[in-house]
Amino acid sequence: MCGIIGYCGPKSTVQVLIEGLKRLEYRGYDSAGVCVCGDGPLTCLKRKGKIRDLQGHVPAATDGRWGIGHTRWATHGEVNDVNAHPHLDCEGRIAVVHNGIIENFAILKEKLQSEGHSFASETDSEVIPHLIEKYYAGDLEEAVKKALGLLKGTYGIVCMHVDQPQLLVGARCGSPLVLGIGNEEMFLASDVTAIISHTKQVVYLEDGEVVTITPSGYRTTDMRDQEIEKRVELISWELEEIEKAGFAHFMEKEIFEQPESIKRAMSGRLDHDQATAHLGGLNMSNRDLLNVERVRIVAAGTSFHAAMVGMYLLESLARVPCTVEISSELRYRNPIVERNTLHFVVSQSGETADTLYAMRELQRKGATVLGICNVVGSTIPRESDGGVYIHSGPEIAVASTKAFTSQITVFYLFSLLLGRMRDLSFEAGKRFIQDLQSVPPKIEQILSRSRSILALAEKYCCYKDFLFLGRGINYPVAMEGALKLKEISYIHAEGYSAAELKHGPIALINDETPSVFLVPEDSLRDKIISNMKEVKSRRGRVIAVAVEGDREVEDIADDLIEVPRISEPFYPLLMVVPMQLMAYHCAVHLGRDVDQPRNLAKSVTVE
Ligand code: F6R
Repeated sequence: MCGIIGYCGPKSTVQVLIEGLKRLEYRGYDSAGVCVCGDGPLTCLKRKGKIRDLQGHVPAATDGRWGIGHTRWATHGEVNDVNAHPHLDCEGRIAVVHNGIIENFAILKEKLQSEGHSFASETDSEVIPHLIEKYYAGDLEEAVKKALGLLKGTYGIVCMHVDQPQLLVGARCGSPLVLGIGNEEMFLASDVTAIISHTKQVVYLEDGEVVTITPSGYRTTDMRDQEIEKRVELISWELEEIEKAGFAHFMEKEIFEQPESIKRAMSGRLDHDQATAHLGGLNMSNRDLLNVERVRIVAAGTSFHAAMVGMYLLESLARVPCTVEISSELRYRNPIVERNTLHFVVSQSGETADTLYAMRELQRKGATVLGICNVVGSTIPRESDGGVYIHSGPEIAVASTKAFTSQITVFYLFSLLLGRMRDLSFEAGKRFIQDLQSVPPKIEQILSRSRSILALAEKYCCYKDFLFLGRGINYPVAMEGALKLKEISYIHAEGYSAAELKHGPIALINDETPSVFLVPEDSLRDKIISNMKEVKSRRGRVIAVAVEGDREVEDIADDLIEVPRISEPFYPLLMVVPMQLMAYHCAVHLGRDVDQPRNLAKSVTVE
């Protein structure tokens, strides 16, 4: 969603801000703006559309010694130049960029208007500069704190004042903000990708904290002005990881990274001697784990599909009853927290508001909640009771791919760990590890056939509706296949259990609605083949994703995508890859904005 960057230091501020905003593009946005200051007044430039539109609009001579920038994903007020950030006070002396939602903005705005403040935009965010203006008496930090004290809702903000050279004030409540420490320069950003080309030393702000920066230092305080000692952390990944590395799109690169990212998720966590897994971050002893009677997994979107695969694994391998819930639903239904139930929240970004709030609700009720996250230092890992990083590296494309397979990989590890404490034998554990380790080279094989999937995508991308059908542990993979296709190609697609076809969706079948069937070599294969025949007998077109050499499926299907043979529980990791490639190639062929599909944001930090 919205992105923030702030800078004070000797470099060209405009360049640092624009570069930072470009690196934040992946979060999804509809408009962008910067405000810089040198020796004169504030210069604020904002534009609906892409950063390149904004860049083209910045006069060559514009620069400054400090400034702030923003990419907006509209919540209050339509997408236009005026509603874009930064927002200014009445006199144009204070500028603010804001992520989040101010829930009580209407009351605040009315009051400020009655006091003579005039507003330019329809946004909730604009109340902030006006409140700061109201309280400013020479100390920006103090005025910001007074203003924030009146806000209800969520924010990550950065503010500047024309009279406070090279000073920025940032604050966080519910929307992430990170401080970057450079050499005689400082940065503030909503995520580290915006600043990693300048510094790897960062400080993550917590809710309720305020930071004031100048090129030579920073001060972190709480809202009551108490100084807070913060730990400086080092970002462990490299700039190259957020570059396209010769691929046409980040999504393509991330699909192709999966053999490596899956290996990283396993790395150092497999114990061959004991045929089990080690997951140190869980913060749980074997005795704690033995007491687990149930598991509940909570997540949104693609992470929810990974959680569903996790449920099948935990029940079948570890024999622990497991439920999975959509985080936004769980939070508002007053969930029952039972003793001895272990909770997981799954989130690539670690910032998804629905999942974060669901986690807090569960913790408030006394639950132990573990996170399965990718972004190191994000809110969920910091607030959870323990967890596992998936170590996929930065996922830049909005559509999640490598995070999905790594989240699942972590569920394989956790199921192995728990399974080995229950009825999974040493021999079975050994075989399990071998199978898991055979996944990356098998994915390589699938990726090497990307061109044939491209040909299929070209053949099918003109269709308007698709069904994706799988069963058992591959049912969530069918849902994920449908989600991938719809979010980046804008083709309507639904994912169903193949068995559910006859309970309704079969009414949609005709020669204009192709069905993608996932047909692994497993105990449900014959039943899926029957479902395929039902579709064929209604003139439906069938694309089957099946195991190499499965002639029976080949004879029935109109088109076939082959995946290597593997033992039953591991098919999701193979089956999903052709789905990702199919969606990718359809989107490219249709000329879609693959990495930043319309209306979508990478990290959904509002409810
Ligand atoms: C789909 C996608 C989204 C996210 C969802 C949760 O490709 O990326 O559905 O999976 O918004 O995001 P995280 O995993 O960051 O909590």
